[in-house]
Amino acid sequence: MTSVTCIPSSPTAHTASHTADGFADVLVGLQYGDEGKAKIIDALAAGYDVIARFNGGANAGHTIDTPFGRIALKQLPSGVFHPHAALYIGSGCAINPWKLADEIEQLHEMGISLEGRLRISARAALVQPHHIALDRRGSGTIGTTGNGIGPCYADRALRVRNDTRVNLMLGDLLANEADTVASMRDVFTRMINAEGGTSPWIAEMSDLLLSLPKVIETLREYIETDRGWITNRVKQGARVLFEGAQSVLLDVVDGSQPYVTSSHTVPAYAYVGGDLSPKYHRRTIGVAKAIMSRVGRGPFPSELGGERSAQYCHDASQSLVGADHEQERFSPDQLLRSNDPFDVGTALRMLTGEYGTGTGRPRRIGMLDLAQLRDVVKAHAVDCVYLNKVDCLSHYFRSAYQGVPMRVHRDVLASDAMPDVLIYSGLTERSLTPGQEGTLDAAMHGFVDFVERQIGAPLAGIGLGPERASLVSLAAHQWAPVEASSPHA
Ligand code: IMP
Repeated sequence: MTSVTCIPSSPTAHTASHTADGFADVLVGLQYGDEGKAKIIDALAAGYDVIARFNGGANAGHTIDTPFGRIALKQLPSGVFHPHAALYIGSGCAINPWKLADEIEQLHEMGISLEGRLRISARAALVQPHHIALDRRGSGTIGTTGNGIGPCYADRALRVRNDTRVNLMLGDLLANEADTVASMRDVFTRMINAEGGTSPWIAEMSDLLLSLPKVIETLREYIETDRGWITNRVKQGARVLFEGAQSVLLDVVDGSQPYVTSSHTVPAYAYVGGDLSPKYHRRTIGVAKAIMSRVGRGPFPSELGGERSAQYCHDASQSLVGADHEQERFSPDQLLRSNDPFDVGTALRMLTGEYGTGTGRPRRIGMLDLAQLRDVVKAHAVDCVYLNKVDCLSHYFRSAYQGVPMRVHRDVLASDAMPDVLIYSGLTERSLTPGQEGTLDAAMHGFVDFVERQIGAPLAGIGLGPERASLVSLAAHQWAPVEASSPHA
């Protein structure tokens, strides 16, 4: 493997054959979502001209603290606070026009204009009222976010239902507003009638339809009918960063069925959903976090507390139990010292704030799974990885583990180790705090080496705290390709 750096190069660093053309990098989450992708994009944004979304919709989301207040963004690409960057929402996305207009207006109120910066593909799928109602009704089995994303993509593939076109696109709203709204109303009404004329969401969905003309007025100026918009930008030298929503383990085909999202989340899809030729691909950047989490149902091999944790979090999300409830009932410091991994997982959730951004639901917690990361890195040829929340590993020092438990491939374990789990004891509380100018001590370097060998890719940076300044860049770190060998444990 060759050594790479994942810091974006300046335009002058392009290869000779690409003197005029720009390039695209793809950044994706490597676990189950919520790895802190937005934070990494924030750090890298200065090196890109366009930040683009290619999949998903309002099921994604991150909260950003700004000097003007806190804002929860769901559909706009990260990078809104980097005025030099254009923002693109590709045809692979499923757009909830009401929520998108709301995001744009919230930003406007903060004094941030997207005029001339934001382009949204007219071919992006349109989330309709009946999608939201269908998804809310059937969200339990998978634990979906209830945003209508699955039914929207399903209708895109179905195209026509009962002789009515259901694969509506954002551009249809502009091209023929009256017919598009009438069609949405018709499909929703038929769905309600088929169910005996009752639905808890009739009033809400009628309001959505009534407010649509105003929403269209807000969105109109941003809708891009030119399929070649992003290609033209790249041909003029633009550097694009594709931002994946959700994460590769939730891919609609590649993930563990049926506990996945409904779009493609793998990096290769960036070039379908992002409307650009893969000819321009330069690098694949992965983001993972050291304390893992998952929301919704589905396999999670390194979950602390296993099936008990999965069931507890599922029940909690159904009964709307969130952070406040856990803070009132439990003492995280006490739970941390328990011999029961379920308790340790609860303590880590409380200490590291792992609750859904939009929903507030408790996330399932797991130890860092290096075996899984290695498989994902290999499958998607990930060039480098940013590892977030490394500072949070310090909580394990106060636990019965007395070190950092990590899941690794069996071939690196001593024969008397717990199945799949290795306790890494080479870190100290001090090594998890960056020194002056972001320097790391020898123990931390040892940990970085160990992780790199296990996953088969260089670490480009590690997150040692929530603030921007706590992201330590390892671009200068010389990564030598070494085969997985015995652990430092
Ligand atoms: P959907 O994407 O709303 O259909 O939900 C399908 C599955 O993906 C559920 O398990 C969700 O919890 C999960 N999911 C969707 N979006 C995200 C995300 O942004 N972060 C983490 N999990 C997500």
